[in-house]
Amino acid sequence: ADAARVPALVIGTGYGGSVAALRLAQAGVDVHMIEMGMAWDTPGPDGKIFANTTKPDQRSYWLRTRTKQPLSNFLGFPIDKDIPRYTGILDAEEMGGIIVYQGRGVGGGSLVNGGMAVTPRRENFGAVLPSVNADEMYDVYYPRANSGLGVATVDPAWFDSVDCYQYARVGRKHAQRSGFPFVFVPDVYDWDYMKKEAAGTVPKSALDGEILYGNNYGKKSLQKTYIAQARDTGRVTISPLHKVTSVSPASGGGYTVVIDQLNTSGDTTATKSVTADRVFFAAGSVGTSKLLTRLKATGALPGLNGEIGKGWGDNGNVMCGRANHLWDPTGKVQSSIPCGGIDNWAAGGAFAEVAPLPTGIETYASFYLSITKTPHRAEFSWNAGAGRVDLNWQTAWKQTSIDAAKTIFDKINAKEGTIYRTDLFGTYKIWGDHLTYHPLGGAVLDKATDNYGRLHGYSGLYVIDGALIPGNTSVNPFVTITALAERNIEKIIATDL
Ligand code: FDA
Repeated sequence: ADAARVPALVIGTGYGGSVAALRLAQAGVDVHMIEMGMAWDTPGPDGKIFANTTKPDQRSYWLRTRTKQPLSNFLGFPIDKDIPRYTGILDAEEMGGIIVYQGRGVGGGSLVNGGMAVTPRRENFGAVLPSVNADEMYDVYYPRANSGLGVATVDPAWFDSVDCYQYARVGRKHAQRSGFPFVFVPDVYDWDYMKKEAAGTVPKSALDGEILYGNNYGKKSLQKTYIAQARDTGRVTISPLHKVTSVSPASGGGYTVVIDQLNTSGDTTATKSVTADRVFFAAGSVGTSKLLTRLKATGALPGLNGEIGKGWGDNGNVMCGRANHLWDPTGKVQSSIPCGGIDNWAAGGAFAEVAPLPTGIETYASFYLSITKTPHRAEFSWNAGAGRVDLNWQTAWKQTSIDAAKTIFDKINAKEGTIYRTDLFGTYKIWGDHLTYHPLGGAVLDKATDNYGRLHGYSGLYVIDGALIPGNTSVNPFVTITALAERNIEKIIATDL
């Protein structure tokens, strides 16, 4: 073990961690970021950094020997396949009856996600983060986050003309014919690049179905935005394939952070320890919650309060497909980047993204990911016998989300004379209710921490990621995670350093 000492250590390189690192570095603080996943900066044998969605390989999954595709079946046939165990990019973590998908690598979820960058409607914000001043968020921090992330909206004229958004135009038509508002959803994908993909003048990414396992071109992941800027300060170092296993008070002040170095099979090849004056937990909702729950229960950080591990939700995620008539084809080539949604939040508690089904063939299917209003919150707890953290999620809780999604799709099906697809999540199974892409909560703002993410019980320990947000954001979460991190780090820099 080396005796290194750092002023600020950030656990994880997703949205919260990247904002913290950039702003601390700009304030003159040296930052060490620890990331359990890979760097994702080196091409594989096929010349590309990331695997294509239609051809998953070892790069695609975090330490699994078989793929775990969110759409497990097609035309009723299972499509998962064996792959070598490797520190790949997408973690399908099975916890208490729900599969929680998460990104692994430098950039966290920004590597694998759809880039949909949605600011909640102002009238919904009070329910998202009740203790936060909404005026400040909408005047300062949401604009700062949107600009830092490079958020933009599709050119509506291009949208109306291009083959790759045929599926979204069908989605819009069906929504509007049933009286639902269709809204364009902003994204961090470079829309000019996508136009060039459609014109055939650049290598394709969104138009080659890339998503979930990384985008080789066009998507402005954190590696290209916050993390690039952070590196440019010269004050930020990043250690990929390093996993934090413990944080505890150090005898001479600050915190001892214990870190396992991993190889690409996931084995520990070395264990190191670093002393840090301040530690920022940015391991994602599940990563941060699991770490804090274990450290509290096993005596490393016994002074954390009773809110640790509580208030975890799935953002009400549920997926479904509809079978269209033959006169409503959705297109052979579909952009993997969604750009529109159906907003029925006020009336039915559901916001449904019109999602692609980029199979390369005409499917006559419309596919949707709904974010729904859900009251259900699970709790992480330490299972001493098994030596792991458990989550007490109840599979039956998804019924609330299905009911909310049905306020949209039952009506559209009735109007169009269509039915649900039953072949995408199993045989004769309509709802993709086994997963979430949007884990939130577990170390909730103003409960486990103060109103700026300072953990109760320990000065110099902070939470700065999705674990702060109590379970439901009414839209996709990363803009809110980024904006909240911008707000909190500004306060922390002004008052704690
Ligand atoms: P995030 O999960 O991004 O980062 C945490 C990082 O910490 C990870 O890189 C992890 O490897 C690392 N880590 C964990 N434990 C560690 C440890 N002990 N030591 C070291 N490192 C550790 N959202 C949205 O707004 N729009 C969208 O379109 C989508 N789409 C989408 C698709 C898919 C497939 C997924 C999986 C997710 C989305 N999301 C999304 C969700 C979004 O990506 C997610 O909310 C954010 O990435 C969460 O940001 P955080 O900063 O909380 O953690």
